[in-house]
Amino acid sequence: MYKTKVLDISDSSIRFAAELIKAGETVGMPTETVYGLAANALDPQAVAKIFKAKGRPQDNPLIVHISGMKMLPDLVTDIPSTAKKCAEAFWPGPLTMILPKKEIIPLTTSGGLDTVGIRMPSNETARKLIDFSGLPLAAPSANLSGSPSPTKASHVFNDMNGRIPCILDDGSCAVGVESTVIAFEENSIRLLRPGFISAEELSDICENVIIDKGVIEAVAQDVKVASPGMKYKHYAPKADITIIDSGTAAFRSYCASHASDDDVLMLFTEAEGTGLTQRCIAYGATSEEQAANLFDVLRELDIIGAKKVYARCPAKTGVGLAVYNRLLRAAAFKVIKL
Ligand code: TXA
Ligand code: MG
Repeated sequence: MYKTKVLDISDSSIRFAAELIKAGETVGMPTETVYGLAANALDPQAVAKIFKAKGRPQDNPLIVHISGMKMLPDLVTDIPSTAKKCAEAFWPGPLTMILPKKEIIPLTTSGGLDTVGIRMPSNETARKLIDFSGLPLAAPSANLSGSPSPTKASHVFNDMNGRIPCILDDGSCAVGVESTVIAFEENSIRLLRPGFISAEELSDICENVIIDKGVIEAVAQDVKVASPGMKYKHYAPKADITIIDSGTAAFRSYCASHASDDDVLMLFTEAEGTGLTQRCIAYGATSEEQAANLFDVLRELDIIGAKKVYARCPAKTGVGLAVYNRLLRAAAFKVIKL
């Protein structure tokens, strides 16, 4: 049991956290997407502490975070030309690339796979933590396995209090949903997890972007998938969420006739709830706002004890696809199309 410290950002607090990392410990690390739970990616014992703190299944691989391109050749055996172009266009930033790993990356980190997900975050604190420790950092989202990802230090504290020594508090994450995860095939990019870097932006780099089936479909437990994280239950608040795929007017009339007064409505804007009797929570007028607010709102539903929730359906393009992908899992794939 740790006494978990929450530290404001300064060079000295980041150096303190870097010393913990070098000593084989885990640290709550801000990034531009969500908070991560970071440890030395090259040390299987340190990485084992991440899995333990999160209660994460061992076969779900971790993303390795670097601060500069010079770290990459030590970690992977090949960098396809499309990957180089993606790095130039989107790094540092919310993009993870799956590449063939070198032996230096332990199987504990890669979840037993011979590939590794690599990302160069843009958040200054994350970059300094990597630089001050001088190590590539394995970091999954810093939530308990199955809970919504943390976008504030308080979310990390709620899930990890007593389980880790320290959290660096850098305020709210700007993006709010986890990085886009891609793999490279012969002449195409396969989108395994949508994020802030959209399929549309990726197709400017490579014409052929394949959106993996798992992005918007439930994956059966016994199926071997390209990205193991897709098969696990995710982002699940206690409330039973149903997504209503419709325009505003149809959503309003559906809720007026089907929702009870105890139900909660997840709307784009407060104005959409005018005249409805249910409790309304707005999660954003644009896809970017929805991405930034989604996980905070999912945690809020638990705090207010929501039992049944009806949610407006995000756009399925651009960043909206990332919001839809996360909300679908939070709703256990329950969608009513009107
Ligand atoms: O934005 C992010 O990516 C955040 C921050 C902290 O950087 N991290 C994050 O990590 O979301 P995590 O562990 O919660 O999600 C990693 C996802 C999982 O779905 C995992 O299955 C997939 O990336 N992944 C990691 N390595 C992989 C690999 N070698 N092959 C296929 N999928 C991989
Ligand atoms: Mg996660």
